[in-house]
Amino acid sequence: MTWLITGGAGYIGAHVVRAMRDAGERTVVYDDLSTGVAERVPEGVPLVTGSTLDAGLLARTLTEHAVTGVVHLAGKKQVGESVDLPLHYYRENVEGLRVLLEAVTAASVRSFVFSSSAAVYGMPSGAAGDQVTEETPCVPMSPYGETKLAGEWLVRATGRATGLSTASLRYFNVAGAATPELADVGVFNLVPMVFEKLTRGEPPRVFGDDYPTPDGTCVRDYIHVVDLAEAHVAAARALDASPGRDLTLNIGRGEGVSVRGMIDLINAATGHDRPPVTAPRRAGDPARVVASADRIREELGWKARYDVQDMITSAWAGWLRLHPQAARA
Ligand code: WQD
Repeated sequence: MTWLITGGAGYIGAHVVRAMRDAGERTVVYDDLSTGVAERVPEGVPLVTGSTLDAGLLARTLTEHAVTGVVHLAGKKQVGESVDLPLHYYRENVEGLRVLLEAVTAASVRSFVFSSSAAVYGMPSGAAGDQVTEETPCVPMSPYGETKLAGEWLVRATGRATGLSTASLRYFNVAGAATPELADVGVFNLVPMVFEKLTRGEPPRVFGDDYPTPDGTCVRDYIHVVDLAEAHVAAARALDASPGRDLTLNIGRGEGVSVRGMIDLINAATGHDRPPVTAPRRAGDPARVVASADRIREELGWKARYDVQDMITSAWAGWLRLHPQAARA
């Protein structure tokens, strides 16, 4: 078995490559290095530099490496940017996937794992305390979420038409790192945004404290990137074991943590004591998004091993590597 990992030089992709390798699978990375970093690809793993829009290079790569399965993580992932650049997001995330699927179905690929997102659910309705199941209606609120939902449709329809085994994995809020070198370098999500404020000696910001949640701040389901990567291995194995399978799975812990709760934990874990300030609500933020992780446990026997504390501590180690001035005396 050889697995092509598109986006394998990215933050999540690099963790997936390591998890697959540690599980004994042969991997090849395919990445355009637009945000990926070649140094993240482990020694001994071939790196093909190219776009998923390049049909010729994809076809050659699938044949040359005798690829039997694909984990597709390459894509654009910033919600705000997708609002300003919808055509770019549709091109990269939907057209890029369509071209890839065309190459995949023309080659000897049997299994396809697609990187989807909780963004497909948009603003889940339901009582406070409810969990989002895979049956919760998908009403994405951004072009980014739309491209992920359209991607799931493409993947599923291709599987039905061709017999390709498919899985769409809906990631909730990903954080943490396996090692400091593999940490996320972007400052687009809560954990690194709080790190940045603390490093500057400024108070972290809470975007809205009047939501209908216990402490008034938004509740999310944070998942360690190492757990997430292991879920990809479990999905890949399940597809190989049963051809014709079609899985759609949430990847979360099933536990909600509020923004204020996260900031308290980050302060404590990093030796700070800086209370947050309240800033205006950010447009489009749902009050509460917490996964039901029942289906993935039942289907794959997968369960998260790490908690929020582990995510913060490992992310902070990665932050200190890039921002040594942030270290407390
Ligand atoms: C979490 C909460 C913010 C920074 C996004 C995508 C989602 C997925 C993960 C890819 C929100 C609040 C943040 C800050 C704050 N991406 N916040 N102060 O928006 O839940 O999810 O990333 O698939 O699709 O939508 O993540 O980390 O940006 O925010 O109060 O300085 O933290 O308002 O409530 P989000 P996030």
